[in-house]
Amino acid sequence: MSSAPVITQEISASAAPALMRVRGLHAFYGKSHIIQGVDLDVGAGEIVSVLGRNGVGRSTMLKAIMGDVDARGSVTLDGREMVGLQPYEIARRGLGYVPENREVFAALTVRENLVMGERRGHAAVGWTIEQMFELFPKLAERAEAPVNQVHRQRRP
Ligand SMILES: Nc1ncnc2c1ncn2[C@@H]1O[C@H](COP(=O)(O)OP(=O)(O)OP(=O)(O)O)[C@@H](O)[C@H]1O
Ligand SMILES: [Mg+2]
Repeated sequence: MSSAPVITQEISASAAPALMRVRGLHAFYGKSHIIQGVDLDVGAGEIVSVLGRNGVGRSTMLKAIMGDVDARGSVTLDGREMVGLQPYEIARRGLGYVPENREVFAALTVRENLVMGERRGHAAVGWTIEQMFELFPKLAERAEAPVNQVHRQRRP
């Protein structure tokens, strides 16, 4: 299909195995076949950008990798297959997904929302509340405020 994302990435067979390896990934919303055979490698410490026009399927591809959308094909992280796992199982293996929209728990405070994303005990990939406050000091100032208030105040 001409509107499918075009992934232009040279994948070298001789290179060290990628940290995350996507092969022949297909994703569906019901009968709508959105992602049609994506191959992608992400190496340790590497940043990979996927470009495309609005609605082409970039978010769907990420959701398929994260187990949030019905997917076929192969996604391995450190050599372990993840297609077919639940999103929480994939998250426990160290993969995170940050949605583009503001998905917060409206009834909770800033701190309580951050606790949801805290991942103590994962030395390599974890992050703590203290680290979040260091990165975003304004959140520390508003830690006990209902997240809705901050949300509204920070909106342009
Ligand atoms: N929950 C859904 N159910 C059915 N179709 C969907 C759903 N979410 C997205 N789509 C459709 O899947 C296609 C890909 O959408 P997707 O959100 O992945 O695109 P995108 O590249 O991330 O675009 P953008 O971020 O600019 O909206 C679009 O045609 C969209 O209408
Ligand atoms: Mg998107």
